Amino acid sequence: MKVLLTTENLREGVQRMAREIRRAYDARPITMLGIMTGSVVLLADLIREFDMPLRVGVLQASSYRGTTTRGELIINAASLPDVSGRDVLLVDDIFDTGRTLEGIREHVSGLGARSVRTAVLLRKRGRQEVSLEPDFVGFEIPDEFVVGYGLDYCDEYRNLAYVAALEPAEIARRTS
Ligand code: IMP
Ligand code: MG
Repeated sequence: MKVLLTTENLREGVQRMAREIRRAYDARPITMLGIMTGSVVLLADLIREFDMPLRVGVLQASSYRGTTTRGELIINAASLPDVSGRDVLLVDDIFDTGRTLEGIREHVSGLGARSVRTAVLLRKRGRQEVSLEPDFVGFEIPDEFVVGYGLDYCDEYRNLAYVAALEPAEIARRTS
């Protein structure tokens, strides 16, 4: 594994995102919705950068299988708080093709949110397939498969306190 972002890099990046978010919302109360499970670490760190009133919820989305194949986007919003009339900030681990975030944004807009913006820890270069641009981005990274700080490969590595790129051999070992 090759470390791309250290714990210290991540801490600074999250603090920078929080400053940008605070400035953009200008003390309006935010409803932050973490897209599970990848955003679990970011969500926990990000919300603790705010001392203003804030609502927090989660929703489940999955579309990603392994490193290359992609399934249909499945949204489970059963545990979502009421978002109608609220300023919603969707929080996700990574903006890859952007399809997940775009699908969820449409879904949450359809529930009557007043506004829906998006914050992602990572954005992969050269992969975008949608017109949606994330409003807040922690770090731009090269097109490599990364794990840690919430991001998984086959449901492992989410607990790493840093972000690392998996070597092709590590991926091959699992898929063979
Ligand atoms: P998108 O819909 O293509 O933007 O994919 C977004 C989802 O795919 C993310 O929420 C992640 O769960 C997953 N994903 C994309 N790239 C990576 C990666 O490099 N490592 C781990 N998960 C990834
Ligand atoms: Mg995810």
